[in-house]
Amino acid sequence: MKFDIDTYLATVAPLDDADNDDDAFLERPLDDDTLRCLRYMHDVEHHTTCYLRDLLVTSAHEDPEVTSFLAMWAYEEFWHGEAIGRVLDRHDVTARRERIFATRRRVGRDRLRTLGFMAASSVTDHIVAIAMTWGAINEWTTQAGYLRLAETAGHPELARLLRRISRQEGRHIDFYAAQAEQRLADRGAQRTTRFALRHKWQPVGSNVMSAEETDHLVRHLFGGDDGEQMAARIDRRIHRLPGLDGLGLVDAVRRTTCPSASSVSPRARHLRCELVSV
Ligand SMILES: [Fe+2]
Ligand SMILES: [Fe+2]
Repeated sequence: MKFDIDTYLATVAPLDDADNDDDAFLERPLDDDTLRCLRYMHDVEHHTTCYLRDLLVTSAHEDPEVTSFLAMWAYEEFWHGEAIGRVLDRHDVTARRERIFATRRRVGRDRLRTLGFMAASSVTDHIVAIAMTWGAINEWTTQAGYLRLAETAGHPELARLLRRISRQEGRHIDFYAAQAEQRLADRGAQRTTRFALRHKWQPVGSNVMSAEETDHLVRHLFGGDDGEQMAARIDRRIHRLPGLDGLGLVDAVRRTTCPSASSVSPRARHLRCELVSV
């Protein structure tokens, strides 16, 4: 898998949503579950700048290809948050800077998290492999979530917007997955990354949003047969990365969150217990 950073840099742009008909939401508002998912997505997209902060205190800052991507990644994610914010505006839901301010206050200054990244970077040479793999998984789940919400919301204008966002998420996937594959060629990186994911991975945004909101998002987007198939597809992609076969991360979270999921396997329950205890 190859990723051409120069091609990406030449095509980086704010989300093209100038032709979106925001007034369509006044005529036909979104349902409460969809709006709740959009609030989550807005807050997490706008938290990207904080994820960037945490990555830049690690040895990732030594690689100019990685930092070139990360700068543009944060830029594109910002505009995803703004686009979703305009949809929330149309439903009289507080969005953008006022909402971001409240989110940051709720999360706190989060200095311990940043120190954790610094400490991890000083004790392992594989922090970038972990971060790139983590990024690939988060982008895979994010893109799948947008596409699923585009289907479940039953609103053509929202579907158009979410599909546009998901196309840009696809370019983020290409970068992170290519980096992960390359860095996981090292057996030590495989072992360390597998350990970190096994013990620390949680759905993207779960460090920012409450457990209730995270569970709602997982239930709404990963519930039912379609959600099960989506989770299985993402897990298959994770398992194809060197050294990560059989992790079952997404399925484990789905099984323990979605009431309609088939009975929880002992392994999934064990993994979920580890995830919620970190
Ligand atoms: Fe995004
Ligand atoms: Fe993304």
